[in-house]
Amino acid sequence: MTARWLFLFLLGVAGSAVLQVHGQADSLGFISIDCGLPGKTGYIDSTTKLSYATDAGFTNTGTNHNISAEYVTPTTGKIWRSVRSFPDGLRNCYTLRSLVPGLKYLIRALFKHGNYDGRLNRWPIFDIHIGVNYWQTVNITDGDMPVIAEIITVISGDSVQVCLVNTGSGTPFISSLELRPLKNKLYPQSDMSQALVLATRANVGASANLRYPDDPHDRIWISLNVPSWMAISTTKEVQNSVIDFFEVPSTVTQTGVTSINSSTPIIFFWDVTSAKDSMPGYVFMLYMAELQHLPSNALRQFYVKLNDKPWDTKPRGLKYLETTVLYNEKPDYASQQYIFSLEATTNSTLPPILNALEIFSVVPTTGLATTTQEISAMTTIRDMYQVKKNWMGDPCAPKNFAWNGLHCGYAVSRPPTITGLNLSSSGLSGNISSSFASLKGLQYLDLSGNNLMGSIPDTLSQLSSLTLLDLTGNQLTGSIPSGLLKRTQDDSLTLRYGNNPNLCSNGNSCQPPKKKPRSMVVVHIVVPIFVVLIIVLLSILLLCMRKRRQGTTTNSVRPQNESIDNYGHTSLRLESRRFTYSELEVITNGFQRVVGRGGFGKVYDGFLEDGTQVAVKLRSESSNQGVQEFLAEAQSLAKIHHKNLVSMFGYCKEREYMALVYEYMSEGALDEHLRGKDNNTRTLSWRQRLLIALESAQGLEYLHKGCNPPLIHRDVKTSNILLNTNLEAKIADFGLLKAFNNDSDTHVSTARVVGTPGYVDPEYYATFQLTSKSDVFSFGVVLLEIVTGQPSIPNDPEPTSIIQWARQRLARGNIEAVVDIHMHGDHDVNSVWKVADTALKCTAQAPEQRPTMTDVVALLHECLELEDARNHMNARFYTAGSDTNLNNYSQYDTGMSTDVSQSRTALEAEHFDRVPRMSDGPAVR
Ligand SMILES: *[C@@H]1O[C@H](CO)[C@@H](O)[C@H](O)[C@H]1NC(C)=O
Ligand SMILES: *[C@@H]1O[C@H](CO)[C@@H](O)[C@H](O)[C@H]1NC(C)=O
Ligand SMILES: *[C@@H]1O[C@H](CO)[C@@H](O)[C@H](O)[C@H]1NC(C)=O
Ligand SMILES: *[C@@H]1O[C@H](CO)[C@@H](O)[C@H](O)[C@H]1NC(C)=O
Ligand SMILES: *[C@@H]1O[C@H](CO)[C@@H](O)[C@H](O)[C@H]1NC(C)=O
Ligand SMILES: *[C@@H]1O[C@H](CO)[C@@H](O)[C@H](O)[C@H]1NC(C)=O
Repeated sequence: MTARWLFLFLLGVAGSAVLQVHGQADSLGFISIDCGLPGKTGYIDSTTKLSYATDAGFTNTGTNHNISAEYVTPTTGKIWRSVRSFPDGLRNCYTLRSLVPGLKYLIRALFKHGNYDGRLNRWPIFDIHIGVNYWQTVNITDGDMPVIAEIITVISGDSVQVCLVNTGSGTPFISSLELRPLKNKLYPQSDMSQALVLATRANVGASANLRYPDDPHDRIWISLNVPSWMAISTTKEVQNSVIDFFEVPSTVTQTGVTSINSSTPIIFFWDVTSAKDSMPGYVFMLYMAELQHLPSNALRQFYVKLNDKPWDTKPRGLKYLETTVLYNEKPDYASQQYIFSLEATTNSTLPPILNALEIFSVVPTTGLATTTQEISAMTTIRDMYQVKKNWMGDPCAPKNFAWNGLHCGYAVSRPPTITGLNLSSSGLSGNISSSFASLKGLQYLDLSGNNLMGSIPDTLSQLSSLTLLDLTGNQLTGSIPSGLLKRTQDDSLTLRYGNNPNLCSNGNSCQPPKKKPRSMVVVHIVVPIFVVLIIVLLSILLLCMRKRRQGTTTNSVRPQNESIDNYGHTSLRLESRRFTYSELEVITNGFQRVVGRGGFGKVYDGFLEDGTQVAVKLRSESSNQGVQEFLAEAQSLAKIHHKNLVSMFGYCKEREYMALVYEYMSEGALDEHLRGKDNNTRTLSWRQRLLIALESAQGLEYLHKGCNPPLIHRDVKTSNILLNTNLEAKIADFGLLKAFNNDSDTHVSTARVVGTPGYVDPEYYATFQLTSKSDVFSFGVVLLEIVTGQPSIPNDPEPTSIIQWARQRLARGNIEAVVDIHMHGDHDVNSVWKVADTALKCTAQAPEQRPTMTDVVALLHECLELEDARNHMNARFYTAGSDTNLNNYSQYDTGMSTDVSQSRTALEAEHFDRVPRMSDGPAVR
């Protein structure tokens, strides 16, 4: 605070013409940038009296342009006259600094094309991102009409990037960028995990637009007038109520409209324009204040309805000169249109009133950024070597915008990590930066074919995951530092350093002190994984073709300890690779990143020598999963293989250490997607859910029918269904797998009941009869979770089984009462019914009434066909892509010019013109 006052004082002394250029924020904490303005000197805007800076210091890419003369009139504000455009690179960013972490901000980007590039009628469409999160799509449809993109969001760091993303539909550009701090209590619907994107903000019944200083938060309130509405106003101040989350200025609520008489409602509506991937949810704020002092016999009382249903529980009566705000805390999802109707009650003698309104869509802001440590290392490297690649924005996120030459690892619920850096032949010169050693997750570093000089820093040897360091073809001098030499000796690192004429010369020995000398290039021999896979496949074929008849099941699959321990003498050795513990340490970078946890222990993220990402499941000392179960899983996994079962690359059994190395399933478990534990992912669509259900059913069917002897999983649940990058489902966790005797299809176990509460077949509980129908039962629970998004034991209001929960609701014939609201009603009702019905069949009390997994697979195929038939008819809802690309619904007209009063008439006229264009603003009828 002191600093701000000091700054104010200095400003006073130096005169208001002096602007800070790099300090970014002004005394109000506002940042105002006039993009494309040449030079370094800003100016004071004549209307708002706010200081606008040039964009020097905020971005270092792009080119300045002036808009064409035909788009400039005397009332065109200065901010609109220049733009910065970004013809190069996918993503270009502005960095806004010195923010308060955890504070809420209003950030506004303004765009007026003005034919700056002289290519009339070629208007661009591009995306903007806030940090690593999608903000909105900017759709320029005309050279004159400004587009305002505004977001209200909580910023977690001390800076934020606003990025313009070229989506292949024209060059991104920007006219102005503004940031205004808000109090955190304002707009409570915006929090750490979601932001509000402005659709419209209307000052109803007003004659002019308003912003700072009328609104201390500098929101732009656009005047909205409709001929059928009667404007009313007062000169008296209108108060906000004591509990107020919006701080609407009195100047906005002093004007309003009523309908013509009390039998006519005020109606306005908002069209949802087609969305590519998902329908946005909306929040609305309706501001109403009584502006007339009413006689005692008069009554103004009205209902607010949304799409013909009461939006508000009771009829509204208003207080004189006090604003009432009606808003929804949770977003509403309507399929096409939001029609608001303010209707007077029968007792009311006066028509309803409306003073202002705001409409926002809600966007998730849960994308994870790379750690600041890695970002700053990469920034240092970029700046030091002047890397000529388009390295802008976050290095790893979002995934499809990762920097060129960078390889990142993405784990569930963890920030992405840089795992590979390839700067070969990139024109680097100078020393090897110490910042490379800050990239702790680095597995390969390729600096070959550059002009690097000086000695090799030994700090690189501390990168414990590093398996390949390529320094070939540089001008390096000195010798190989001892730490790196040691790493090459124990084979944890491949070092290539050939073609450096002055390296290891003049008595600088590059040989290890002891041990036999090695050649210049230390070759790290990697057992090719595909050979291992082929062997695994072959043995599965053998296993599944050979009919093994066993009197008891206990020893058919359950492995003998010795068979694994006697490395070199067992079939297991042929079937999968055996890792040593130290190899696992290298693969997982010292067991650094935990991607999952189970009764068994932790699961770590890792990379094989060839870069294949793997998950390493390490048994913990305290694990309640015994050695037996561990070995059972190792044995089972080595023998069975199916595209819908998680496959194993190898295992480790060394002293007390036991671990399994599986294929990496980057999207984590299904339950996280259904219940949003993983903030990185979006809600699954119905079609995605159907595919996941079908694929996991196929995996189970294979266990039951495809192998001999058949196998029962015994722990089918949503957390054991894992998803890969393409959201393909695979069944995991075979620790409880049991083979059962095919002849009687029954296995009598004397052991304790295993499985997870909420999923266990009641019949199994009662009789200890374990059959494949027990898996079918558990799978029925999985299907119900997929339909409802509820956990297997919902708390509604008491903990109950999801089966009962769903049965009760479905019995009333109301499918919508159970369907996950996150699907926003975007599904074929028949296909949902069919899945729900299948789930109920699977969870029938009597095992013989339950279908087999083969039946379930067939039923799910039919469900998918139903859903696809609908999608063919309704193609706009269906997209396989993973990018949200919401329509641009926030374009609207603003007369924000240096002189609002002069442009007022033009504005009003435009507003009348624009009323019938429903998608651009709230329409009125
Ligand atoms: C834009 O116009 C101003 C003067 O109005 C001029 O100084 C500036 O150089 C022009 N910028 C470009 C990129 O042409
Ligand atoms: C209210 O206004 C409507 C539309 O002008 C008119 O049709 C209706 O008769 C009016 N009702 C009353 C009670 O004045
Ligand atoms: C309308 O007035 C009647 C009589 O005063 C009262 O009983 C009724 O509750 C009122 N209706 C509403 C909706 O306020
Ligand atoms: C780095 O990129 C070059 C050129 O694309 C390629 O030849 C080389 O194999 C890459 N290095 C690594 C380690 O992937
Ligand atoms: C580069 O490295 C050499 C020796 O390794 C050192 O003397 C020199 O100061 C370094 N230069 C820079 C710019 O760091
Ligand atoms: C852009 O706006 C135009 C006109 O409203 C519309 O036809 C088009 O579909 C929009 N494009 C996108 C990608 O939203």
